[in-house]
Amino acid sequence: MISKDINKASEIIRGGGLVAFPTETVYGLGANALDSNAVAKIFEAKERPTFDPLIVHIAKIEDISRLSIQKSTYINVLAENFWPGPLTIVLEKSGLVPDLVTSGLNTVGIRMPDNPIALELINKSGCPIAAPSANKFGRISPTKAEHVQKQLPFLECILDGGGTKIGIESTVIRLHDDGFQILRNGFITESDLIKHVPKSNKTDVNEVELASPGLLKSHYSPEKPVYIKGNIPIEIDYSKAAYLSFYGEETNKYKLVEYLSKNQNLTEAAANLFTAFHTLEDSDCEYIIADQVPMIGIGKAIMDRLSKASYRFLNSSLKSV
Ligand code: TXA
Ligand code: MG
Repeated sequence: MISKDINKASEIIRGGGLVAFPTETVYGLGANALDSNAVAKIFEAKERPTFDPLIVHIAKIEDISRLSIQKSTYINVLAENFWPGPLTIVLEKSGLVPDLVTSGLNTVGIRMPDNPIALELINKSGCPIAAPSANKFGRISPTKAEHVQKQLPFLECILDGGGTKIGIESTVIRLHDDGFQILRNGFITESDLIKHVPKSNKTDVNEVELASPGLLKSHYSPEKPVYIKGNIPIEIDYSKAAYLSFYGEETNKYKLVEYLSKNQNLTEAAANLFTAFHTLEDSDCEYIIADQVPMIGIGKAIMDRLSKASYRFLNSSLKSV
């Protein structure tokens, strides 16, 4: 049920239940991160494989030292410059963090969300909150309370904070002794990070994939085929297709058009991406044809999400992923 009652939501969290809540990126599906039974309910509700670790959300920088045993001056530098905000820092975990949260990895992803409702919920609950995006596994992340309601209608409490500001999931980095390694692109880019902390020399791709099992090639897909312009493997009947537009080219030939941004603004495009996917999923178009956006700044994160959304439609052998 969609609600504005943070007190009730925090009671549910304290009682070992689930609450969906807004962050500045996307809506999260939260549970007490220190309670394995509560965390298990997240995997069950999302139908998420347990090899995919969860991000732990905190409201105070001091909480890092309870959740992680890693010592590095870079931790505070990152927290002071980017928190609250869309940066998840993967650190060596402490014994307090249940293995289910980290899928058995010896690291934990931590972030402080930049949203007053999320921060108040964490404070009132009195515990860190483990939360993945509040969608069914592999589906589009929610940017409105109604999107959560659509995918997880059985939830007792979905805190309503309106549309999310950033609209794309946080940047995930692993912090090594010599600096950071990006595991998932997001709003905070490599050039933002490099101003404060050096880039690690550990950049082996397999290692990245191993360190972040959630980085599957196929993810975030609407239920309709998504194709990216320049890579459309089939004959398309454009009168049945929707155009997810960045450049506004030949808009007349499509059945309908959803704009990521009318003036080619990448930040606006990121904020609109998942909302547009939800709208098109509910529309009567048969396919979604998306523009390629420039791979600069947050454009990388947008292209990452678009490629993941289209991946399973380009690879028939992976249709069931
Ligand atoms: O913006 C966000 O990050 C949202 C909001 C709700 O905070 N959360 C989110 O969670 O996107 P989720 O579960 O959909 O994605 C978390 C990503 C996954 O790709 C996961 O593999 C990675 O973070 N991750 C979490 N803990 C990790 C760890 N210990 N090591 C490597 N990767 C980790
Ligand atoms: Mg997700």
